[in-house]
Amino acid sequence: MLKLDELLKDTLSRSESRITKISDLRDHVGKEVFVRGWVHRQRASTNLAFVIIRDGTGIVQCAVKKDDVTEKTWKDANDVFLESVVYAHGTVAKDERAPDGYEIRAKELVTYFRGDAFPIGKDQSTEFLLDVRHLWVRSQHIVNVLRFKAYLMQEARSFLDGMGFLEVQPPMFTSSAAEGGSTVFEVKYFDKKAYLSQTAQLYSEAMIEGYPLVYAFAPSFRAEPSRTPRHLTEFWQLEPEEAFFDFEMNMRLMGDLVEHLCHQMAKKHPELLKKYNRDPKDLLAIKGPFEKMTYEKALKELGLKWGDSIGLDEEKTLMKERKQPTFLVNQPKEMRAFYMKINQKDPRTVLDSDLLAPEGIGEILGGSERVESYDELVRRLKEQKLKEKDYRWYLELRKYGSVPHSGFGMGSERLCRWMLKLETIRDAIPFPRTMNRLEP
Ligand code: 4AD
Ligand code: MG
Repeated sequence: MLKLDELLKDTLSRSESRITKISDLRDHVGKEVFVRGWVHRQRASTNLAFVIIRDGTGIVQCAVKKDDVTEKTWKDANDVFLESVVYAHGTVAKDERAPDGYEIRAKELVTYFRGDAFPIGKDQSTEFLLDVRHLWVRSQHIVNVLRFKAYLMQEARSFLDGMGFLEVQPPMFTSSAAEGGSTVFEVKYFDKKAYLSQTAQLYSEAMIEGYPLVYAFAPSFRAEPSRTPRHLTEFWQLEPEEAFFDFEMNMRLMGDLVEHLCHQMAKKHPELLKKYNRDPKDLLAIKGPFEKMTYEKALKELGLKWGDSIGLDEEKTLMKERKQPTFLVNQPKEMRAFYMKINQKDPRTVLDSDLLAPEGIGEILGGSERVESYDELVRRLKEQKLKEKDYRWYLELRKYGSVPHSGFGMGSERLCRWMLKLETIRDAIPFPRTMNRLEP
């Protein structure tokens, strides 16, 4: 068989075809293989070294016996650092004691890149891990979250695609605030001011008049000064917008989507869930239709009075005994965005629906029926002391072919955090942006 140094001398594309993925080793028991990857762990005694290799598809232990290998291989197996890059050549054996049940009995091992001693060891502080996030994103902890999130969003997309939704691209540079001026990021845009998008919604509202069901999956930026485990200044929202959907239809879609995602992830990725101590059964038990709790009812439960706001602490109290996600609906119009339609049954309130998750997570989705009439929208803007001229094009949508419509936003990081029981939302995105973190 080919030797490692020959393989390493060959072009990458030719040597690639000879490399076995760690996840495929089970099909090669008793056979000789080449694997390559980063050193995940290493330990050695006088005559035996274990180099544990990670290649992105899995982790395998490579056993190097001093008596079976050249001096060079023995030296390399002993001198590697964590995260050095190695190539190994050996025979695959089934071994119950090995991390994933398979082991490579090495014939050769070559350090391709040794580098420096890796700065991340055990039990590092959260702050330190954020400082070295560029190195920490390769950790199993983060990689598995990223895998989970990618699969989650694939499911979400295919759910909506299956219903006839079209994915669209909203702009990230916008000319006015959509979710309140206090959390908007201002950027210089040639000789003008622009704002980073807080939501795709207003643009999606324009697009549904050409194609009635659309969604965007895009970043939202919020200058949130809050340092909480549920706020980021940059997060990714999935935002469906639906023509001819009223408040109730929109809520049904929100609930169906969440239930579907819980069930799909539990069925398809139980192993990933278990790595984060989430019992897949918890997610299989999520079952709609979810309770709809009005703001008024929530106030009674909390012993608060009209006008008091329901923040995270209140959400936590409301959700303490509740096992299922719950809609909080019909909050006072003064407390909600200008684009939310007035609730005819109680005109002090709007047709808004926040979906609260159990387990202290709070709001994970937020939606509403939108104002469809020009005059009502003008009134709502005035009430909120917003300038008509800043919403010129948005108002104009109510002049031509305006229809009842609704939509919502699902915070992908909040959903991940809940499903994976992550301590903080920062672990649900590779490079979290918060008030005091812009680096790396
Ligand atoms: O409730 P929000 O602000 O609603 C909107 O932006 C609407 N325009 C959405 C729509 O109707 N199309 O945000 C929606 C969701 C929240 O429920 C939450 O999950 C997430 O986005 N979110 C945040 N996630 C992380 N960090 C923050 N600072 C977030 N703010 C909102
Ligand atoms: Mg909200």
